[in-house]
Amino acid sequence: MSIKNQRNQLQPPPLPPRALRELVGPLEDHSYDNPTGELVFPEIPSSCYKSVFDFGCGCGRIARQLIQQQECPSRYVGVDLHRGAIRWCRRNLSPVARSFEFHHQNIRNLGLNPRGKSEKVPFPVGDNSILLFVAWSVFTHLTEDVASFYFSELARVLHPNGIAITTWFLFDKSEFPMMQQFKNALYIDYIDPTSAVIFDKDWLKRSATQNGLVINQVIPPEIRGLQWKVYFTKATPGRRHAEIPEDRAPLGIYRPPVTPDSKGLRSILHRISARALRSGYMR
Ligand SMILES: C[S@@+](CC[C@H](N)C(=O)[O-])C[C@H]1O[C@@H](n2cnc3c(N)ncnc32)[C@H](O)[C@@H]1O
Repeated sequence: MSIKNQRNQLQPPPLPPRALRELVGPLEDHSYDNPTGELVFPEIPSSCYKSVFDFGCGCGRIARQLIQQQECPSRYVGVDLHRGAIRWCRRNLSPVARSFEFHHQNIRNLGLNPRGKSEKVPFPVGDNSILLFVAWSVFTHLTEDVASFYFSELARVLHPNGIAITTWFLFDKSEFPMMQQFKNALYIDYIDPTSAVIFDKDWLKRSATQNGLVINQVIPPEIRGLQWKVYFTKATPGRRHAEIPEDRAPLGIYRPPVTPDSKGLRSILHRISARALRSGYMR
């Protein structure tokens, strides 16, 4: 074991504060921890951990686990739209793992970055440079147009021998006959559509094909309707997409934390849309 990792095992990196954890999902310490130093994604070859990109890294949950890995990545780049989460990661994780960079992307988001300038900001890494691309619980929060943009960014940065691990909510559009050809996502919240976004399975396959990617493995959710794990690699001639099976998981409940209502924006927007509905502007 290297000196660096002996040190990491003796002195684990700090854990993010509860207030930040509440913004991104799991609260328990063990979800941020990797005390045995095993590969964070055991199904991914160890050679892929040389250069890791973590899209929507939050407050460093996966980064912290990677720092504790026996073989710490030689390059890690995490991006997120939440300033406070990135500030925390820079102050607390980069000093214990010098090869770990964190970048704030000034992307507009009602709950987490309402003053953001844009919805689409390219990733701050070069073409074909990433061997392991991670987007954990991120495409589940992107509107269709934005997801298409980041799909093409994923394809741009992924190394020809790289692998992307992503999670999605998926549905079968053939069960929704009223949906237009160009609409492929369902939204559960009309004030903040990024709250949870559910994509058509065929749209996912088409988007992969259009971006020169192939779906090489699909792991259905453990609770029906929850996140699917979908792995992508660069397409090679003759390689077909893995099957996206039916969701036969048992029914259950898994409610994520409610996104904060930054400066009361939700109630303001709610009043505006209610007024528009009353005046007949929206149908
Ligand atoms: C549910 S959290 C998951 C965080 C982290 N991946 C994890 O598993 O702990 C989703 C994260 O994605 C970030 N996010 C959402 N859309 C984003 C975008 N377009 N660019 C960068 N970060 C984004 C959010 O700020 C949030 O931190």
